[in-house]
Amino acid sequence: RTLDGGGRHLLPGLIDSHVHFRTPGLTHKEDWAHAGRAAVAGGVTTVIDMPNTLPPLHTAEEAHRKAELLAGTTLVDHRFHLGVTGDDPSPLRSVGPREATSVKVFLAGHHTAPDVVRDPAQLEKVFRTAAEAGLRLLLHAEDDAVFGLLDSWRGAPAGYGGYERHRPRSGGIVAVARVVELVRRHGTAVHVLHVSSAEEADLLTAAAHTGLPVTFEVTPHHLSFTATETSRTGARARLSPALRDRSDRERLWQAVVGGEVATLGSDHAPHTRAEKLRPPAEAPPGLPGVQEMLTAVHTGLRRRAPEDSPDAQLSCLARLLAERPAGLFGLDERKGRLRPGLDADFVLFDADERWMLAPGAIQSKCGWSAYEGWTMTGRVLRTVRRGETVYSHADGQAEFGSPDGRWLDARRPGDLVPR
Ligand code: DOR
Ligand code: ZN
Ligand code: ZN
Repeated sequence: RTLDGGGRHLLPGLIDSHVHFRTPGLTHKEDWAHAGRAAVAGGVTTVIDMPNTLPPLHTAEEAHRKAELLAGTTLVDHRFHLGVTGDDPSPLRSVGPREATSVKVFLAGHHTAPDVVRDPAQLEKVFRTAAEAGLRLLLHAEDDAVFGLLDSWRGAPAGYGGYERHRPRSGGIVAVARVVELVRRHGTAVHVLHVSSAEEADLLTAAAHTGLPVTFEVTPHHLSFTATETSRTGARARLSPALRDRSDRERLWQAVVGGEVATLGSDHAPHTRAEKLRPPAEAPPGLPGVQEMLTAVHTGLRRRAPEDSPDAQLSCLARLLAERPAGLFGLDERKGRLRPGLDADFVLFDADERWMLAPGAIQSKCGWSAYEGWTMTGRVLRTVRRGETVYSHADGQAEFGSPDGRWLDARRPGDLVPR
């Protein structure tokens, strides 16, 4: 079969390695039918889902059960990151690459973090166990000591709420430094999620230069907004870690363009409008983003370097949204050279179209977006997953394929690719 791309750009199907699709237990916020449509409308053909569901995902058996539950319900191919408790990381020992290659650890607490590991001895054990099991740790590295201190100092309610109004310069730096030290001791491969400040980017880049197996992610939210947006719109633009200053945002862009960042992840974390309208200390942090990510980051790149060629910018995005996540999470034999023809995943992208995300075009079940009213540059015209058109858009009409997204297999990161 041939497809006339009309001179547009062809990108690989994107891998969003950071989504919260909320099944099981939180399906009033999001479900895989809606989120699958949001994904493919954003050019994403594979997602890796976070474990902070109700109950959280901790074991290989639970991963199999979750995959069964999702069969036939979603457009998007998928994998899962496991969660872990500090009390007992031993389930990680029986996880094979079929089930997961990665584990998310929350170092700080907030509304949607069920398993927080704070105890230093427990953290050592988690890092050691992951290293022995060949699993990559994904870190939510925030300092809740700093949170708590600032909140009580300002008389704000305990927990999430006061933090982003004060914007201390050190929101995650203590946690990130701790992570680097643990990597040095145990050799665990780590990927630090949603890095939000200049200092954290500096420290992680320096650690990687010393040869430690440390990589990091940034989100479209931290590249698109600053704390000003949170002050302006409240909980709608509040996430954890909080949005920072302009100088932080520009440092993150530099890390994207300069190749310090390994992956972009949407951190698609939908909550209902009603939840977001609760008083600040009770409104859960998080924004949707899987549909908006590619075009939001492309828009930012264009604005910052209008003279760069669209080809170079799209190559950068393809690296951060396909090649690098595939390599980090063991998807490259599925999504790459080794099985040509199995995965004809690609995206037809018009790099010049300027458009606005209309409320009616939002696919997430939560039904809102922090990017409403933005003029975006670049638009997904068609998404093909394993040879099938799963999304196309013409004359303002979106069309979707059938929900036969699969649970993908993977190899262990770092294993030799069998030939
Ligand atoms: O803002 C956030 N929301 N940060 C997280 O780490 C979790 C997420 C969620 O699940 O809502
Ligand atoms: Zn997180
Ligand atoms: Zn997240």
